[in-house]
Amino acid sequence: MVTGAARGIGRRVALTLAERGYAVAANDLFTPAEVLVELERVGAEVLAIPGDVSDEETVREMVRDVMKGFGRVDVLVNNAGISAIVPAEQMTLADWDRTLAVNLTGPFLMSREFGKEMLRQGSGSIINISSVAGLLGIADRAAYNASKHGLIGLTRTLAAEWGGRGVRVNAVCPGWVKTEMDQEDQASGGYTDADIEGHTPMARFARPEDIAQAVAFLADPVLSGYVNGHALSVDGGWYGDGSWESLRRRKRGESPRGIYEENTE
Ligand SMILES: NC(=O)c1ccc[n+]([C@@H]2O[C@H](COP(=O)([O-])OP(=O)(O)OC[C@H]3O[C@@H](n4cnc5c(N)ncnc54)[C@H](O)[C@@H]3O)[C@@H](O)[C@H]2O)c1
Repeated sequence: MVTGAARGIGRRVALTLAERGYAVAANDLFTPAEVLVELERVGAEVLAIPGDVSDEETVREMVRDVMKGFGRVDVLVNNAGISAIVPAEQMTLADWDRTLAVNLTGPFLMSREFGKEMLRQGSGSIINISSVAGLLGIADRAAYNASKHGLIGLTRTLAAEWGGRGVRVNAVCPGWVKTEMDQEDQASGGYTDADIEGHTPMARFARPEDIAQAVAFLADPVLSGYVNGHALSVDGGWYGDGSWESLRRRKRGESPRGIYEENTE
């Protein structure tokens, strides 16, 4: 079961799992028609499970539909999320509430309802897509960062509660990924490619594929069978790097002042 599977990271996660032989229930706010065709093309059994992950009754229906269609659920990927970039002092309560509802309450409801089925089975893996913003404070993202920090707290708590009954719960913390969300955030004036590439030790954005491979690892009971309650950074080294910018650039063999120097030449 993959939420927010119509585009971006979710789409790639759904495809990667399908390629590994999973039957895929693909959720988004609407039926992700193009994605279903892609999944079928690689031979996967598919189900369309449209609906808002933050709505309790809708989530209950999703479980009913998946159990009716597939009879079991081995993996839940809580990927659906929204971004909100605005200075904290200007953030409306409505923006705050909606961001928390989709990014944190949604994964809670999905985990609670699908988790009950996994607990009945005695097996399952839940993977929550948090963010580097779930580990660090990044300005102008009060609600988003709070939701992603909260998602790691939820991950660890569910791991503690359910690990002993066969259900593992982990998080993936992507750095910046080239998706429509990134395009929309950049269009709103938040940052540029150069800002991200300059700060990332590996000097590039993540590809959705980078995130999908980490999800596939955490989904697999053989590869990650003893990994539980972990927040796995997939960020090109962002979270672990305490270097200052000129040092980072020097280590990459770049001019220490990077684009700023080039711009003044
Ligand atoms: N792109 C990045 O740089 C980045 C970095 C770190 C973490 N993330 C996280 O990864 C996840 C996916 O990001 P993305 O870049 O692919 O985003 P995206 O905006 O490209 O795709 C998100 C998908 O989720 C769906 N969605 C939104 N609200 C929903 C809801 N209430 N119910 C069901 N579906 C809903 C959207 O329709 C969309 O198809 C998000 O949780 C995001 O916060 C993204």
